[in-house]
Amino acid sequence: MDDLLEKELRKPSLIKNPRVLDLKYIPKKLLHREEEQKMLIQYFKPVIEKPGEYSQRVSIIGAIGTGKTAIALKFGEMIKVYSTQKNLNLEYVHVNCRRARSAFLTLLEIVRKFNPHIPVRGFSPEEILNMLTEILNRKKLYLIVTLDEIDFVIRKDGPNLLYDLTRLTDDELDMKERVSIITIVRDFAFRTMLDESTLSTLRQNTIFLKAYNEDQLSDIISDRVGEAFYEDSVSNDAISLIADIASKNGDARFAIELLERAGMYADHRQSLKVLPEHVRHANASIHPVIRQEIIKDLTTQQKLTLLAIAAKLRTTQKAYLTMGELEETYKGLCEEFNLPIRSHTQVWEYIQYLQNCDVITTRLSSKGQRGQTTLISLPDVSAEIIETTIREQFHKKG
Ligand SMILES: Nc1ncnc2c1ncn2[C@@H]1O[C@H](COP(=O)(O)OP(=O)(O)OP(=O)(O)O)[C@@H](O)[C@H]1O
Ligand SMILES: [Mg+2]
Repeated sequence: MDDLLEKELRKPSLIKNPRVLDLKYIPKKLLHREEEQKMLIQYFKPVIEKPGEYSQRVSIIGAIGTGKTAIALKFGEMIKVYSTQKNLNLEYVHVNCRRARSAFLTLLEIVRKFNPHIPVRGFSPEEILNMLTEILNRKKLYLIVTLDEIDFVIRKDGPNLLYDLTRLTDDELDMKERVSIITIVRDFAFRTMLDESTLSTLRQNTIFLKAYNEDQLSDIISDRVGEAFYEDSVSNDAISLIADIASKNGDARFAIELLERAGMYADHRQSLKVLPEHVRHANASIHPVIRQEIIKDLTTQQKLTLLAIAAKLRTTQKAYLTMGELEETYKGLCEEFNLPIRSHTQVWEYIQYLQNCDVITTRLSSKGQRGQTTLISLPDVSAEIIETTIREQFHKKG
């Protein structure tokens, strides 16, 4: 018996509940999306209060990782609980059209929620649609169906799916309005793929989700840390750095992925806490190639400046270093490698250059007693990797 496996399994972990870091997990609360959730509920108020008399169509639009799927699924959960309590025949069905792969398979997936035994082959789209009508009528069901990432099937198969489903509500299904639709897409472009009549049936009910800002991401990550990790296992600096990195695109999915990977690195290193360096490492593992190339093309002095930033961040385990700290470390390195020390203005120029290459980011500190200073961070790559790469290059040159 190989004891490597046993040894690895016995290592303690900082992660208490790994399921919470899974991207499919829906958190108890969707932070900073309360207004949007209220809007969705308001749009569906008539349907919920008087199922059969009204149907509704709502589009949720927002960039990647802005919580579109999460909001719809949360709404679905609420609907399920409410209809059970009130004994309503109101059902929520969520289908990801991209994963379903085609308009026909999307339709089949909806019908299969009610009759799981229908085979994939052997029926035409028309027959599947009739089957859905028949099931809804017979069971006296009201349906709220979310077509997530619907632009995928519209691009592939045209707008028929949407047209067919909206027609179901327009046709008299024993005089009842049985089908409401939520569509989810990343941008408005998909509307140009729709003809006038489908567009008008979609109505203009749109919920637009803005990208998350840094503070919002910080709240979302802190909340997730609380659910997923043991107490005091993630440093505040690591959380700030994740929020800072992910705020470039306002993408909560990326933020959670960084958190999970950073947690895994910290475990791997048997660290007692998740630190900024683990976040940098996690981020570098997501985009590992470009940065190394950029480093190779720097001048010796620019490399020294970057090395100073990396070395300082690695030893302090902080997310940022000040201009003063940088210059001090830089001077030490010049002495170590026997290279001339450049002036403050020149070092400042190297910083600007590194920032333009997207290797580092800078920001002004908040106004403290000692006035403002520039804070420098390495959000995209592990300080350790940078330090090793540059030192190797210097040693090679001798
Ligand atoms: N407001 C929030 N509070 C807590 N977690 C959130 C919030 N918004 C998003 N998340 C989490 O971020 C991840 C991405 O969210 P979601 O899947 O809803 O994004 P999306 O907008 O559907 O992205 P895509 O366009 O890629 O499908 C999920 O794990 C989700 O739980
Ligand atoms: Mg989604």
